[in-house]
Parts: sequence; C-alpha cells; structure tokens
Amino acid sequence: MNRIFSGVQPTGNLHLGNYLGAIRNWVELQDDYDCIFCIVDLHALTLPQDPEGLRGHTREVTAAYLAAGIDPEKCIIFNQSSVPGHSELAWLFACITPLGWLNRMTQFKEKAGKHRENAGLGLYAYPVLMAADILLYKATHVPVGEDQKQHLELSRDIAGAFNRQYETDYFPLPEPQILGEATRVMSLRDGSNKMSKSDPSDYSRINMTDDADTIALKVRRARTDPEPLPDTVDGLEGRPEAANLIGIYAALTRTTRADVVAAFGGKMFSEFKDALATVAVDTLGPIGAEMQRLLAEPGLVDGVLHRGAERAGEIARHHLSEIHRIVGLLRP
Ligand code: TYM
Repeated sequence: MNRIFSGVQPTGNLHLGNYLGAIRNWVELQDDYDCIFCIVDLHALTLPQDPEGLRGHTREVTAAYLAAGIDPEKCIIFNQSSVPGHSELAWLFACITPLGWLNRMTQFKEKAGKHRENAGLGLYAYPVLMAADILLYKATHVPVGEDQKQHLELSRDIAGAFNRQYETDYFPLPEPQILGEATRVMSLRDGSNKMSKSDPSDYSRINMTDDADTIALKVRRARTDPEPLPDTVDGLEGRPEAANLIGIYAALTRTTRADVVAAFGGKMFSEFKDALATVAVDTLGPIGAEMQRLLAEPGLVDGVLHRGAERAGEIARHHLSEIHRIVGLLRP
C-alpha cells in the first residue's frame, strides 16, 4: 500500500489555510493510504518558542487532526520529537546534501530576513529534517499546501542522491499531493501574502478555533476591491483578494471557482461575504468546538500521541537499522 506522511508545525494560530491546504485533504485520503500524520515540534524549534506554549500547541494541533476527522485507529498520529530517528536520519542526509541545494530554498530566505548571518543552522537545515520525516517511513505521497512544493522537490533530490551514492533503490521518490481549490490561501488583509500563523494581524487569518462571531467579523472586514464580482474565472486576473475569497468559498463548498463566479458574478462583495461567512462558520464551527472538547481532556490527546509514537517508532527503528547497514554504520 502507498504510504502518506505529512505534518503541521505546532506554532499556534492554526488557520483556514492549514485546514483547506492540508488537514482536510488528509481526512479524505486516509481510507486509501497507509497514513502517518505528525506534529513537527522539532521544526517549530527552528524559531524561538516558549516551552509551555510549544507543549500546548502540540496538543492543539493533535486535537485539530482528531476534530477534523482523522481516525487514530486508521492513521498514526504522533509528535516528531518522540521518535528520535527523525534527527538521526536528518544528520545522515545533511552529510549528502550540497549547500547549493539549500541556498535555493525561498522559505529560508523569507524566514531568515535581512540578518541571514544570525539565522540558526536549524532554520537552514529545516528542509533536510523534512526529507528525513518523510523518508524515515519510506512515504510515497505527501499531501501539502503549495508553499511546501520546493521543500518536497528537495526531499526527492535527497532521496535520489542517497540512492545514487549507495547504489540502491532503498528510498522512494515521494510525490507531492497538492489538492483542491485552496492550495494557497492568502491573507484576508493582503491578497499578495499567504495566510500565515505568524502574521501579527489576527484579522489576516481565520483560526480553526475562532467562534462564529469572530469568523463572520473577519470575513466582513476582509479586504476587497470596489468592483462587483466577475462572472468568469478570467475576470479574477489582477484581483487577488477576490480570487482568494472565491477560492476559499469554492473549497469550503467543494465546488469550483467557475461554479462560484457563475453563482455570484455581478453581485456586490457584501452579499458574497455573508454567504462566505455562513459556509466558513458551518465548516469550522463544529471542528473548533470539538477541538475545545478534546483539549479539555489532555489525557485523551496525550494517549493518542503516545500510541502513535510507539507505532511510528517501530517502523522508524526497522528502517534505520536497514539504513545503518546501507551506509556502513556498525551496530555491534
Ligand atoms: P506548516 O506548519 O507551515 O503548514 C502545515 C500545512 O498547511 C499548509 N499551509 C497552507 N495551505 C494553503 N494555504 C496556506 N496559506 C497555507 N499555509 C500553510 C502547508 O503547505 C502544510 O501542508 N514544513 C511543513 C511541515 C513539515 C512537513 C514535513 C510537511 C515538516 N515535515 C513532512 C510534510 C511532510 C510546514 O512548515 O508546514
């Protein structure tokens, strides 16, 4: 059976982009693949985190997976740091990854900002750890939002480099699965920026835990242009905010942009926003409520993670012993 691996960083403010670009697609894939869903806490540490906050956000992402409908009986759900093999394989990959490949990573450039000399080695090596996450389980498919595409290409390159260097076909070349109408949800305040956990403005994103009033308010305040909605998809050209809201609506209602412009073309944004707020509340409201319920029972979430770590750890140990043999590490 083909295997899926994917993950979310526990850095707080889980949002609609994480849901539509990733988590919701996982729910749909879980019956057809052997799935491993991770809370990538080691990746979160590439930028400073408050220790108590990190623990809380790890539980929050776990609750989001469960509340969205990921079944812990079918899928493995665990946090990355509880399986030490991720760090170990990241080291082995670091030894075969040319600096030139990492220098091309746009996310590092964005996150390091102007003071690149002060950026941590972990932030730079981030995509190598991501390759290790995926390949430790020999995953064949990786469902993610569009922003992770470049990292996934690097994972394929690293798998290929390993296979060539050791003259083996041990690692599969993992395929990205970038699915749906909202693979890149943009900020509600600026249609040229991605919706992001780290945007200082809470009005830029709809959080998975926002209540109905907050969701409605954020949709109402979302930036738009003064024109009515276009009646063709081509009419969205040069109108990033309109394109974003229509893409979100299409994803939430499981239709297409073409369907949405056919229904709302020529209407004013105020009317469209009311409809958008309704579908956003209908989708996220029950998930947010279920997250709160699960988080009120920390034992439950921790139990899921504990069992997931055991199952993931078993696969990881088995693969690592094979990898040790391939690279020539002695296990006396
Ligand atoms: P992270 O935590 O930034 O995001 C988690 C998932 O949400 C998707 N996403 C979006 N999709 C659409 N629109 C958006 N505005 C948006 N923002 C985020 C991301 O594409 C991602 O799928 N490096 C990864 C975590 C990771 C990982 C992995 C993923 C670590 N190891 C191995 C897959 C496989 C990240 O930072 O995701």
